[in-house]
Amino acid sequence: MSAAHYAAARALLADPLTNKGTAFSEAERDRYHLHGLLPPHVGTLESQIARRRRVMEAMGSDFQRYAFLRELQDSNEVLFHALVQSDLPRMLPLVYTPTVGEGCERFSEIWRRPRGLFLSWPNRDHMADILDDTAFDRVKVIVVSDGERILGLGDQGAGGMGIPIGKLALYTACAGIHPSEVLPILLDVGTDNEARREDPLYVGWRAPRVRGADYDAFVEQFVTLVAKRFPHALLQWEDFAGKNAYDLLGRYRHRLLSFNDDIQGTAATTVGTLLAAIRRSGAALADQRVVLFGAGAAGSGVAEMLVQALMAEGLSQSEARARLWAVDREGLILTEMAQRPEGLPPQQVALARAREGGMADKMDLLATVRHVRPTVLIGASGQKGAFDEAVVRAMAEQVERPVIFPLSNPISRAEAHPADLLAWSEGRAIVGTGSPFGVAGVTQVNNVYIFPGVGLGALACGAREVSDGMFMAAARCLGQLGGDGEGLLPPIESLRDVALAIAIAVADQAQSEGLAMARPEHYTPEAIAARMWQPNYR
Ligand code: NAI
Repeated sequence: MSAAHYAAARALLADPLTNKGTAFSEAERDRYHLHGLLPPHVGTLESQIARRRRVMEAMGSDFQRYAFLRELQDSNEVLFHALVQSDLPRMLPLVYTPTVGEGCERFSEIWRRPRGLFLSWPNRDHMADILDDTAFDRVKVIVVSDGERILGLGDQGAGGMGIPIGKLALYTACAGIHPSEVLPILLDVGTDNEARREDPLYVGWRAPRVRGADYDAFVEQFVTLVAKRFPHALLQWEDFAGKNAYDLLGRYRHRLLSFNDDIQGTAATTVGTLLAAIRRSGAALADQRVVLFGAGAAGSGVAEMLVQALMAEGLSQSEARARLWAVDREGLILTEMAQRPEGLPPQQVALARAREGGMADKMDLLATVRHVRPTVLIGASGQKGAFDEAVVRAMAEQVERPVIFPLSNPISRAEAHPADLLAWSEGRAIVGTGSPFGVAGVTQVNNVYIFPGVGLGALACGAREVSDGMFMAAARCLGQLGGDGEGLLPPIESLRDVALAIAIAVADQAQSEGLAMARPEHYTPEAIAARMWQPNYR
Protein backbone atom coordinates (compact mmCIF):
# COMPACT_ATOMS: atom_id res chain seq x y z
CA MET A 1 0.00 0.00 0.00
CA SER A 2 1.35 3.45 -0.83
CA ALA A 3 1.79 6.34 1.60
CA ALA A 4 -1.09 8.04 -0.20
CA HIS A 5 -3.37 5.12 0.63
CA TYR A 6 -2.51 5.30 4.32
CA ALA A 7 -3.04 9.08 4.34
CA ALA A 8 -6.37 8.80 2.50
CA ALA A 9 -7.63 6.17 4.96
CA ARG A 10 -6.75 8.37 7.91
CA ALA A 11 -8.33 11.44 6.27
CA LEU A 12 -11.56 9.51 5.70
CA LEU A 13 -11.77 8.65 9.40
CA ALA A 14 -10.68 12.09 10.57
CA ASP A 15 -13.30 14.01 8.60
CA PRO A 16 -16.59 14.09 10.56
CA LEU A 17 -18.49 14.40 7.26
CA THR A 18 -17.12 11.09 5.90
CA ASN A 19 -16.36 9.09 9.03
CA LYS A 20 -18.72 6.19 9.77
CA GLY A 21 -16.72 4.66 12.62
CA THR A 22 -17.49 0.99 13.06
CA ALA A 23 -20.29 1.21 10.49
CA PHE A 24 -17.87 1.02 7.54
CA SER A 25 -18.78 -2.24 5.76
CA GLU A 26 -16.24 -4.97 4.94
CA ALA A 27 -16.29 -3.88 1.30
CA GLU A 28 -15.59 -0.27 2.26
CA ARG A 29 -12.82 -1.38 4.60
CA ASP A 30 -11.25 -3.26 1.67
CA ARG A 31 -11.64 -0.41 -0.77
CA TYR A 32 -10.42 2.38 1.54
CA HIS A 33 -7.76 0.35 3.39
CA LEU A 34 -9.44 0.75 6.76
CA HIS A 35 -8.68 -2.68 8.19
CA GLY A 36 -6.60 -2.39 11.31
CA LEU A 37 -7.43 1.27 11.79
CA LEU A 38 -10.92 0.12 12.82
CA PRO A 39 -11.66 -2.70 15.26
CA PRO A 40 -13.05 -5.79 13.47
CA HIS A 41 -16.69 -5.43 14.57
CA VAL A 42 -18.95 -4.04 11.83
CA GLY A 43 -21.83 -2.08 13.34
CA THR A 44 -24.94 -0.31 12.07
CA LEU A 45 -26.14 3.22 12.61
CA GLU A 46 -28.82 1.89 14.97
CA SER A 47 -26.31 -0.04 17.09
CA GLN A 48 -24.03 3.02 17.18
CA ILE A 49 -26.91 5.21 18.38
CA ALA A 50 -27.75 2.72 21.14
CA ARG A 51 -24.10 2.47 22.25
CA ARG A 52 -23.57 6.27 22.35
CA ARG A 53 -26.87 6.81 24.13
CA ARG A 54 -25.89 4.34 26.83
CA VAL A 55 -22.52 5.99 27.38
CA MET A 56 -24.13 9.43 27.42
CA GLU A 57 -26.84 8.54 29.92
CA ALA A 58 -24.26 7.09 32.32
CA MET A 59 -22.58 10.50 32.63
CA GLY A 60 -22.99 12.52 35.80
CA SER A 61 -24.14 15.91 34.46
CA ASP A 62 -25.77 17.55 31.47
CA PHE A 63 -22.61 19.55 30.87
CA GLN A 64 -20.66 16.31 30.47
CA ARG A 65 -23.32 15.10 28.06
CA TYR A 66 -23.06 18.39 26.14
CA ALA A 67 -19.27 18.02 25.86
CA PHE A 68 -19.64 14.39 24.83
CA LEU A 69 -22.10 15.33 22.07
CA ARG A 70 -19.87 18.14 20.83
CA GLU A 71 -17.03 15.69 20.50
CA LEU A 72 -19.25 13.21 18.70
CA GLN A 73 -20.33 15.93 16.28
CA ASP A 74 -16.68 16.67 15.55
CA SER A 75 -15.92 13.01 14.83
CA ASN A 76 -19.03 11.67 13.06
CA GLU A 77 -21.77 14.06 11.92
CA VAL A 78 -24.21 11.43 10.67
CA LEU A 79 -24.13 9.59 13.97
CA PHE A 80 -24.40 12.82 15.98
CA HIS A 81 -27.47 13.97 14.03
CA ALA A 82 -29.05 10.52 14.01
CA LEU A 83 -28.67 10.41 17.79
CA VAL A 84 -30.16 13.90 18.16
CA GLN A 85 -33.10 13.08 15.90
CA SER A 86 -33.75 9.74 17.58
CA ASP A 87 -35.11 11.58 20.64
CA LEU A 88 -35.53 15.33 20.13
CA PRO A 89 -37.22 16.03 23.52
CA ARG A 90 -34.27 14.44 25.35
CA MET A 91 -31.48 15.75 23.10
CA LEU A 92 -32.48 19.36 22.35
CA PRO A 93 -31.94 20.61 25.93
CA LEU A 94 -28.49 18.95 25.86
CA VAL A 95 -27.43 20.32 22.48
CA TYR A 96 -29.02 23.72 22.98
CA THR A 97 -30.75 25.64 25.82
CA PRO A 98 -30.38 25.37 28.70
CA THR A 99 -27.12 23.34 28.64
CA VAL A 100 -25.46 25.40 25.90
CA GLY A 101 -25.19 28.25 28.44
CA GLU A 102 -22.63 26.34 30.44
CA GLY A 103 -21.17 25.15 27.13
CA CYS A 104 -20.37 28.80 26.29
CA GLU A 105 -19.06 29.65 29.76
CA ARG A 106 -16.74 26.62 29.68
CA PHE A 107 -16.11 26.64 25.92
CA SER A 108 -12.34 27.01 26.28
CA GLU A 109 -12.19 24.06 28.66
CA ILE A 110 -13.72 21.69 26.12
CA TRP A 111 -12.27 23.11 22.90
CA ARG A 112 -10.82 20.18 20.93
CA ARG A 113 -11.10 20.55 17.18
CA PRO A 114 -11.91 23.37 14.80
CA ARG A 115 -15.56 23.86 13.92
CA GLY A 116 -16.72 26.95 12.08
CA LEU A 117 -14.66 30.13 11.88
CA PHE A 118 -13.22 32.55 14.38
CA LEU A 119 -12.82 35.88 12.63
CA SER A 120 -10.75 37.90 15.04
CA TRP A 121 -9.80 41.55 15.10
CA PRO A 122 -6.02 40.85 15.06
CA ASN A 123 -6.52 38.69 11.94
CA ARG A 124 -8.83 41.09 10.14
CA ASP A 125 -6.47 41.45 7.19
CA HIS A 126 -6.76 37.69 6.53
CA MET A 127 -10.55 37.58 6.64
CA ALA A 128 -10.99 37.14 2.87
CA ASP A 129 -8.49 34.27 2.74
CA ILE A 130 -10.12 32.57 5.72
CA LEU A 131 -13.55 32.70 4.07
CA ASP A 132 -12.20 31.55 0.71
CA ASP A 133 -11.54 27.98 1.94
CA THR A 134 -13.12 25.58 -0.57
CA ALA A 135 -14.44 23.52 2.37
CA PHE A 136 -17.16 26.19 2.61
CA ASP A 137 -18.24 26.10 -1.03
CA ARG A 138 -21.59 24.50 -0.21
CA VAL A 139 -22.49 26.79 2.71
CA LYS A 140 -26.14 27.87 2.77
CA VAL A 141 -26.74 28.94 6.37
CA ILE A 142 -24.43 31.06 8.54
CA VAL A 143 -25.11 31.82 12.19
CA VAL A 144 -22.88 34.58 13.52
CA SER A 145 -22.38 36.07 16.98
CA ASP A 146 -19.88 38.39 18.62
CA GLY A 147 -20.49 36.67 21.96
CA GLU A 148 -21.49 39.83 23.83
CA ARG A 149 -24.96 38.87 25.11
CA ILE A 150 -25.05 35.11 25.45
CA LEU A 151 -28.52 34.06 26.67
CA GLY A 152 -28.88 35.69 30.08
CA LEU A 153 -25.15 35.18 30.78
CA GLY A 154 -23.70 38.36 29.29
CA ASP A 155 -20.33 38.66 27.56
CA GLN A 156 -18.66 35.30 26.91
CA GLY A 157 -16.22 36.47 24.22
CA ALA A 158 -15.04 33.62 21.99
CA GLY A 159 -16.99 31.16 24.15
CA GLY A 160 -20.10 32.57 22.49
CA MET A 161 -19.24 30.24 19.58
CA GLY A 162 -21.30 27.61 21.42
CA ILE A 163 -24.44 29.47 20.28
CA PRO A 164 -23.85 29.42 16.47
CA ILE A 165 -22.75 25.79 16.72
CA GLY A 166 -25.88 24.85 18.69
CA LYS A 167 -28.31 26.82 16.51
CA LEU A 168 -26.91 25.24 13.37
CA ALA A 169 -27.26 21.77 14.89
CA LEU A 170 -30.95 22.65 15.20
CA TYR A 171 -31.06 23.82 11.56
CA THR A 172 -29.90 20.35 10.59
CA ALA A 173 -32.13 18.53 13.09
CA CYS A 174 -35.32 20.48 12.34
CA ALA A 175 -34.92 21.93 8.84
CA GLY A 176 -32.80 19.16 7.32
CA ILE A 177 -29.95 21.47 6.23
CA HIS A 178 -26.95 19.24 5.41
CA PRO A 179 -24.07 19.57 7.92
CA SER A 180 -21.68 20.61 5.12
CA GLU A 181 -24.01 23.52 4.30
CA VAL A 182 -23.87 25.25 7.69
CA LEU A 183 -21.16 27.58 8.96
CA PRO A 184 -20.91 28.87 12.55
CA ILE A 185 -18.94 32.12 12.82
CA LEU A 186 -17.71 34.00 15.86
CA LEU A 187 -16.58 37.58 15.39
CA ASP A 188 -13.89 37.83 18.06
CA VAL A 189 -13.52 41.51 18.85
CA GLY A 190 -12.32 40.88 22.42
CA THR A 191 -14.34 40.59 25.60
CA ASP A 192 -15.15 42.87 28.50
CA ASN A 193 -15.54 39.82 30.71
CA GLU A 194 -12.39 40.08 32.83
CA ALA A 195 -12.76 36.61 34.29
CA ARG A 196 -12.56 35.20 30.74
CA ARG A 197 -9.62 37.38 29.74
CA GLU A 198 -7.67 36.33 32.81
CA ASP A 199 -8.50 32.65 32.50
CA PRO A 200 -5.31 30.88 31.33
CA LEU A 201 -7.46 28.46 29.33
CA TYR A 202 -9.34 31.18 27.41
CA VAL A 203 -9.05 30.53 23.65
CA GLY A 204 -10.22 33.96 22.45
CA TRP A 205 -8.39 37.23 21.82
CA ARG A 206 -7.46 38.67 25.23
CA ALA A 207 -8.36 42.31 24.90
CA PRO A 208 -11.23 44.63 25.82
CA ARG A 209 -13.94 44.77 23.15
CA VAL A 210 -13.30 46.82 20.04
CA ARG A 211 -16.14 49.33 19.84
CA GLY A 212 -17.44 52.31 17.89
CA ALA A 213 -16.24 53.04 14.36
CA ASP A 214 -13.64 50.24 14.45
CA TYR A 215 -16.31 47.69 15.35
CA ASP A 216 -18.63 48.97 12.64
CA ALA A 217 -15.85 48.81 10.04
CA PHE A 218 -14.99 45.26 11.09
CA VAL A 219 -18.60 44.09 10.70
CA GLU A 220 -18.88 45.97 7.40
CA GLN A 221 -15.79 44.15 6.12
CA PHE A 222 -17.35 40.86 7.21
CA VAL A 223 -20.70 41.55 5.54
CA THR A 224 -19.07 42.71 2.31
CA LEU A 225 -17.01 39.52 2.11
CA VAL A 226 -19.96 37.27 3.01
CA ALA A 227 -22.15 38.90 0.35
CA LYS A 228 -19.46 38.20 -2.26
CA ARG A 229 -18.43 34.72 -1.12
CA PHE A 230 -21.92 33.39 -0.23
CA PRO A 231 -24.35 35.47 -2.31
CA HIS A 232 -27.25 33.03 -1.81
CA ALA A 233 -26.69 32.06 1.84
CA LEU A 234 -28.92 32.99 4.75
CA LEU A 235 -27.25 34.73 7.69
CA GLN A 236 -28.70 34.69 11.19
CA TRP A 237 -27.48 37.33 13.69
CA GLU A 238 -27.41 35.81 17.13
CA ASP A 239 -26.80 37.07 20.66
CA PHE A 240 -25.41 40.51 19.88
CA ALA A 241 -25.90 43.08 22.65
CA GLY A 242 -29.02 45.26 22.41
CA LYS A 243 -27.93 48.32 20.45
CA ASN A 244 -25.66 46.40 18.08
CA ALA A 245 -28.44 43.88 17.49
CA TYR A 246 -30.82 46.61 16.28
CA ASP A 247 -28.18 48.57 14.37
CA LEU A 248 -26.84 45.55 12.47
CA LEU A 249 -30.31 44.29 11.62
CA GLY A 250 -31.36 47.71 10.35
CA ARG A 251 -28.14 48.23 8.41
CA TYR A 252 -27.96 44.86 6.69
CA ARG A 253 -31.41 43.30 6.41
CA HIS A 254 -31.90 44.63 2.88
CA ARG A 255 -28.31 43.95 1.81
CA LEU A 256 -28.02 40.33 2.97
CA LEU A 257 -30.59 37.58 3.28
CA SER A 258 -30.55 37.84 7.07
CA PHE A 259 -32.51 38.19 10.28
CA ASN A 260 -31.95 38.55 14.00
CA ASP A 261 -33.41 35.65 15.93
CA ASP A 262 -33.38 37.39 19.32
CA ILE A 263 -35.55 40.20 17.98
CA GLN A 264 -37.58 38.77 15.08
CA GLY A 265 -37.57 35.07 15.99
CA THR A 266 -38.63 35.77 19.57
CA ALA A 267 -41.40 38.09 18.41
CA ALA A 268 -42.78 35.54 15.94
CA THR A 269 -42.58 32.68 18.43
CA THR A 270 -44.35 34.70 21.11
CA VAL A 271 -47.02 36.07 18.79
CA GLY A 272 -47.60 32.61 17.28
CA THR A 273 -48.03 31.07 20.73
CA LEU A 274 -50.23 33.98 21.76
CA LEU A 275 -52.48 33.42 18.73
CA ALA A 276 -52.83 29.79 19.79
CA ALA A 277 -53.61 30.86 23.39
CA ILE A 278 -56.20 33.38 22.26
CA ARG A 279 -57.90 30.76 20.11
CA ARG A 280 -58.10 28.58 23.19
CA SER A 281 -59.47 31.40 25.36
CA GLY A 282 -62.19 31.93 22.75
CA ALA A 283 -61.85 35.71 22.35
CA ALA A 284 -60.80 37.67 19.25
CA LEU A 285 -57.30 39.15 18.99
CA ALA A 286 -58.77 42.61 18.50
CA ASP A 287 -60.52 42.34 21.88
CA GLN A 288 -57.36 41.64 23.86
CA ARG A 289 -55.81 44.07 26.32
CA VAL A 290 -52.11 43.27 26.52
CA VAL A 291 -49.72 44.32 29.29
CA LEU A 292 -46.07 43.87 28.48
CA PHE A 293 -43.65 43.82 31.41
CA GLY A 294 -40.08 44.64 30.30
CA ALA A 295 -39.81 46.59 27.04
CA GLY A 296 -36.25 45.77 25.98
CA ALA A 297 -35.15 43.94 22.83
CA ALA A 298 -37.47 40.96 23.22
CA GLY A 299 -40.46 42.84 24.69
CA SER A 300 -40.51 45.68 22.17
CA GLY A 301 -40.10 43.22 19.28
CA VAL A 302 -43.14 41.33 20.52
CA ALA A 303 -45.06 44.61 20.88
CA GLU A 304 -44.32 45.74 17.33
CA MET A 305 -45.33 42.41 15.87
CA LEU A 306 -48.55 42.41 17.88
CA VAL A 307 -49.34 45.84 16.45
CA GLN A 308 -48.86 44.42 12.95
CA ALA A 309 -51.08 41.43 13.78
CA LEU A 310 -53.82 43.71 15.11
CA MET A 311 -53.60 45.95 12.05
CA ALA A 312 -54.01 42.87 9.87
CA GLU A 313 -57.34 42.36 11.68
CA GLY A 314 -58.47 45.73 10.36
CA LEU A 315 -57.48 48.05 13.21
CA SER A 316 -55.73 51.34 12.49
CA GLN A 317 -52.25 51.78 13.88
CA SER A 318 -53.49 53.96 16.75
CA GLU A 319 -56.30 51.53 17.55
CA ALA A 320 -53.77 48.70 17.58
CA ARG A 321 -51.40 50.58 19.88
CA ALA A 322 -54.32 51.34 22.19
CA ARG A 323 -54.52 47.60 22.97
CA LEU A 324 -50.99 47.61 24.44
CA TRP A 325 -49.59 48.86 27.73
CA ALA A 326 -45.85 48.52 28.36
CA VAL A 327 -44.33 48.58 31.85
CA ASP A 328 -40.59 48.98 32.39
CA ARG A 329 -38.32 49.90 35.32
CA GLU A 330 -40.12 53.21 35.99
CA GLY A 331 -43.57 51.68 35.74
CA LEU A 332 -46.10 52.15 32.93
CA ILE A 333 -44.36 53.87 30.02
CA LEU A 334 -46.08 57.24 29.64
CA THR A 335 -45.58 59.92 27.00
CA GLU A 336 -44.68 62.39 29.78
CA MET A 337 -41.53 60.33 30.43
CA ALA A 338 -40.12 61.45 27.10
CA GLN A 339 -39.84 64.96 28.61
CA ARG A 340 -37.37 63.80 31.26
CA PRO A 341 -33.70 64.69 30.64
CA GLU A 342 -32.85 61.04 29.95
CA GLY A 343 -35.91 60.66 27.69
CA LEU A 344 -37.12 57.19 26.62
CA PRO A 345 -35.09 54.46 24.91
CA PRO A 346 -35.84 54.53 21.15
CA GLN A 347 -37.75 51.23 21.14
CA GLN A 348 -40.09 52.52 23.87
CA VAL A 349 -41.13 55.80 22.27
CA ALA A 350 -43.91 54.26 20.16
CA LEU A 351 -45.11 52.22 23.17
CA ALA A 352 -45.66 55.24 25.45
CA ARG A 353 -49.25 56.06 26.36
CA ALA A 354 -50.91 59.26 27.51
CA ARG A 355 -51.77 59.49 31.20
CA GLU A 356 -55.43 58.69 31.82
CA GLY A 357 -57.81 59.69 34.60
CA GLY A 358 -57.79 57.26 37.52
CA MET A 359 -54.09 56.44 37.14
CA ALA A 360 -51.90 56.50 40.24
CA ASP A 361 -48.84 58.78 40.33
CA LYS A 362 -46.57 55.78 39.95
CA MET A 363 -48.12 53.08 37.83
CA ASP A 364 -46.26 49.94 38.89
CA LEU A 365 -47.27 46.55 37.50
CA LEU A 366 -50.02 45.95 40.07
CA ALA A 367 -51.51 49.41 39.56
CA THR A 368 -51.34 48.92 35.79
CA VAL A 369 -53.07 45.53 35.97
CA ARG A 370 -55.82 47.02 38.17
CA HIS A 371 -56.27 49.95 35.80
CA VAL A 372 -56.05 48.07 32.48
CA ARG A 373 -57.71 44.74 33.41
CA PRO A 374 -55.48 42.92 30.87
CA THR A 375 -56.41 39.66 29.19
CA VAL A 376 -52.75 38.99 28.34
CA LEU A 377 -49.64 39.55 30.49
CA ILE A 378 -46.21 39.01 28.95
CA GLY A 379 -42.93 39.20 30.90
CA ALA A 380 -39.58 39.92 29.21
CA SER A 381 -37.89 41.76 32.08
CA GLY A 382 -35.49 39.23 33.60
CA GLN A 383 -37.11 40.05 36.99
CA LYS A 384 -37.68 36.93 39.04
CA GLY A 385 -41.01 36.82 40.82
CA ALA A 386 -42.37 40.03 39.28
CA PHE A 387 -45.70 38.28 38.55
CA ASP A 388 -46.54 37.82 42.23
CA GLU A 389 -49.73 36.62 43.85
CA ALA A 390 -51.29 40.08 44.09
CA VAL A 391 -50.70 40.81 40.41
CA VAL A 392 -51.97 37.43 39.23
CA ARG A 393 -55.04 37.45 41.46
CA ALA A 394 -55.88 41.01 40.36
CA MET A 395 -55.73 39.85 36.75
CA ALA A 396 -57.58 36.56 37.29
CA GLU A 397 -60.43 38.37 39.08
CA GLN A 398 -61.24 40.23 35.87
CA VAL A 399 -60.88 37.61 33.15
CA GLU A 400 -62.02 34.05 32.80
CA ARG A 401 -58.91 32.72 31.02
CA PRO A 402 -55.92 35.02 31.69
CA VAL A 403 -53.06 34.42 29.26
CA ILE A 404 -49.75 34.76 31.15
CA PHE A 405 -46.31 34.33 29.55
CA PRO A 406 -43.33 34.76 31.91
CA LEU A 407 -40.73 34.55 29.14
CA SER A 408 -37.53 35.51 30.95
CA ASN A 409 -34.70 32.97 30.93
CA PRO A 410 -33.10 31.18 32.59
CA ILE A 411 -35.42 29.73 35.25
CA SER A 412 -33.72 31.88 37.90
CA ARG A 413 -34.98 34.99 36.04
CA ALA A 414 -38.54 33.91 35.27
CA GLU A 415 -41.26 36.40 36.30
CA ALA A 416 -43.19 33.53 37.92
CA HIS A 417 -43.21 29.80 38.42
CA PRO A 418 -45.98 28.38 36.21
CA ALA A 419 -47.33 26.20 39.04
CA ASP A 420 -47.96 29.39 41.07
CA LEU A 421 -49.74 31.02 38.13
CA LEU A 422 -52.06 28.04 37.87
CA ALA A 423 -52.66 27.96 41.64
CA TRP A 424 -53.37 31.69 41.97
CA SER A 425 -55.81 31.58 39.04
CA GLU A 426 -57.53 28.36 40.20
CA GLY A 427 -56.15 26.61 37.14
CA ARG A 428 -57.71 29.08 34.69
CA ALA A 429 -54.52 30.71 33.41
CA ILE A 430 -53.14 29.75 30.00
CA VAL A 431 -49.40 29.73 30.62
CA GLY A 432 -46.33 29.90 28.37
CA THR A 433 -42.79 30.13 29.74
CA GLY A 434 -39.39 30.92 28.27
CA SER A 435 -37.63 28.11 30.13
CA PRO A 436 -38.72 24.50 30.51
CA PHE A 437 -40.38 23.95 33.91
CA GLY A 438 -41.84 20.51 33.28
CA VAL A 439 -45.29 21.59 34.52
CA ALA A 440 -48.13 19.78 32.74
CA GLY A 441 -50.16 21.93 30.39
CA VAL A 442 -47.55 24.72 30.29
CA THR A 443 -46.13 25.58 26.88
CA GLN A 444 -42.46 26.38 26.33
CA VAL A 445 -42.21 29.42 24.08
CA ASN A 446 -38.98 28.43 22.34
CA ASN A 447 -37.56 30.08 19.21
CA VAL A 448 -36.75 26.64 17.81
CA TYR A 449 -40.39 26.59 16.70
CA ILE A 450 -39.75 29.45 14.28
CA PHE A 451 -36.21 30.02 13.02
CA PRO A 452 -35.53 26.68 11.26
CA GLY A 453 -38.73 27.04 9.24
CA VAL A 454 -38.09 30.69 8.39
CA GLY A 455 -34.57 29.83 7.20
CA LEU A 456 -35.72 26.80 5.24
CA GLY A 457 -38.52 28.73 3.55
CA ALA A 458 -36.34 31.73 2.70
CA LEU A 459 -33.69 29.49 1.13
CA ALA A 460 -36.17 27.30 -0.71
CA CYS A 461 -37.77 30.21 -2.55
CA GLY A 462 -34.48 32.06 -3.08
CA ALA A 463 -35.76 35.03 -1.09
CA ARG A 464 -34.01 38.35 -1.65
CA GLU A 465 -34.57 39.31 1.98
CA VAL A 466 -36.48 38.17 5.04
CA SER A 467 -39.39 40.57 5.45
CA ASP A 468 -41.56 41.31 8.49
CA GLY A 469 -44.40 39.78 6.49
CA MET A 470 -42.51 36.50 6.26
CA PHE A 471 -42.10 36.43 10.05
CA MET A 472 -45.78 37.23 10.46
CA ALA A 473 -46.66 34.34 8.12
CA ALA A 474 -44.46 32.09 10.28
CA ALA A 475 -46.18 33.26 13.47
CA ARG A 476 -49.65 32.72 12.03
CA CYS A 477 -48.70 29.27 10.78
CA LEU A 478 -47.34 28.34 14.22
CA GLY A 479 -50.50 29.63 15.89
CA GLN A 480 -52.61 27.39 13.69
CA LEU A 481 -50.62 24.17 14.01
CA GLY A 482 -52.34 23.37 17.28
CA GLY A 483 -51.04 21.87 20.46
CA ASP A 484 -50.37 18.40 21.74
CA GLY A 485 -53.54 18.30 23.80
CA GLU A 486 -52.60 20.34 26.86
CA GLY A 487 -49.86 22.60 25.46
CA LEU A 488 -50.44 25.33 22.90
CA LEU A 489 -47.78 24.22 20.41
CA PRO A 490 -47.02 20.92 18.69
CA PRO A 491 -44.79 18.53 20.63
CA ILE A 492 -41.00 18.78 20.24
CA GLU A 493 -40.98 15.40 18.45
CA SER A 494 -42.72 17.02 15.50
CA LEU A 495 -40.29 19.93 15.00
CA ARG A 496 -39.37 18.75 11.50
CA ASP A 497 -43.03 18.90 10.45
CA VAL A 498 -43.33 22.30 12.10
CA ALA A 499 -40.30 23.61 10.18
CA LEU A 500 -41.69 22.29 6.90
CA ALA A 501 -45.13 23.84 7.48
CA ILE A 502 -43.57 27.18 8.38
CA ALA A 503 -41.18 27.03 5.42
CA ILE A 504 -44.13 26.63 3.05
CA ALA A 505 -45.97 29.57 4.63
CA VAL A 506 -42.81 31.72 4.53
CA ALA A 507 -42.05 30.89 0.89
CA ASP A 508 -45.66 31.64 -0.13
CA GLN A 509 -45.48 34.98 1.65
CA ALA A 510 -42.15 35.82 -0.01
CA GLN A 511 -43.71 35.04 -3.37
CA SER A 512 -46.72 37.25 -2.69
CA GLU A 513 -44.38 40.12 -1.73
CA GLY A 514 -42.33 39.66 -4.90
CA LEU A 515 -39.27 38.58 -2.90
CA ALA A 516 -39.01 34.98 -4.15
CA MET A 517 -36.37 34.64 -6.85
CA ALA A 518 -36.45 30.84 -7.32
CA ARG A 519 -38.76 29.16 -9.83
CA PRO A 520 -42.05 28.14 -8.10
CA GLU A 521 -41.43 24.42 -8.71
CA HIS A 522 -38.43 24.71 -6.34
CA TYR A 523 -40.58 25.53 -3.37
CA THR A 524 -43.64 23.36 -3.61
CA PRO A 525 -44.20 21.47 -0.31
CA GLU A 526 -42.96 18.28 -1.99
CA ALA A 527 -39.81 19.94 -3.34
CA ILE A 528 -38.92 21.45 0.04
CA ALA A 529 -39.59 18.18 1.90
CA ALA A 530 -37.54 16.18 -0.61
CA ARG A 531 -34.46 18.37 -0.04
CA MET A 532 -34.52 17.99 3.77
CA TRP A 533 -31.51 15.88 4.71
CA GLN A 534 -31.88 12.74 6.84
CA PRO A 535 -28.87 11.45 8.77
CA ASN A 536 -28.10 8.14 7.04
CA TYR A 537 -24.79 6.71 5.88
CA ARG A 538 -24.30 6.77 2.15
P1 NAI B 1 -33.26 43.54 27.59
O1 NAI B 1 -32.23 43.85 28.60
O2 NAI B 1 -33.17 44.17 26.24
O3 NAI B 1 -34.73 43.93 28.17
C1 NAI B 1 -35.11 43.82 29.50
C2 NAI B 1 -36.07 44.95 29.80
O4 NAI B 1 -36.60 44.75 31.10
C3 NAI B 1 -35.39 46.30 29.77
O5 NAI B 1 -36.17 47.24 29.05
C4 NAI B 1 -35.31 46.65 31.24
O6 NAI B 1 -35.31 48.06 31.48
C5 NAI B 1 -36.56 45.99 31.77
N1 NAI B 1 -36.53 45.83 33.21
C6 NAI B 1 -35.47 45.56 34.00
N2 NAI B 1 -35.83 45.55 35.29
C7 NAI B 1 -37.14 45.81 35.32
C8 NAI B 1 -38.09 45.95 36.37
N3 NAI B 1 -37.73 45.81 37.65
N4 NAI B 1 -39.36 46.22 36.04
C9 NAI B 1 -39.73 46.36 34.75
N5 NAI B 1 -38.89 46.25 33.73
C10 NAI B 1 -37.60 45.98 34.00
O7 NAI B 1 -33.30 41.96 27.48
P2 NAI B 1 -34.07 41.08 26.38
O8 NAI B 1 -33.10 40.61 25.35
O9 NAI B 1 -35.29 41.80 25.94
O10 NAI B 1 -34.47 39.81 27.25
C11 NAI B 1 -35.38 39.93 28.34
C12 NAI B 1 -35.70 38.55 28.88
O11 NAI B 1 -36.45 37.84 27.92
C13 NAI B 1 -34.45 37.72 29.18
O12 NAI B 1 -34.59 37.08 30.42
C14 NAI B 1 -34.43 36.71 28.07
O13 NAI B 1 -33.89 35.49 28.50
C15 NAI B 1 -35.89 36.56 27.75
N6 NAI B 1 -36.09 36.08 26.37
C16 NAI B 1 -36.89 34.99 26.19
C17 NAI B 1 -37.06 34.44 24.93
C18 NAI B 1 -37.99 33.28 24.76
O14 NAI B 1 -38.59 32.84 25.66
N7 NAI B 1 -38.14 32.73 23.59
C19 NAI B 1 -36.35 34.98 23.75
C20 NAI B 1 -35.59 36.19 24.04
C21 NAI B 1 -35.47 36.69 25.32
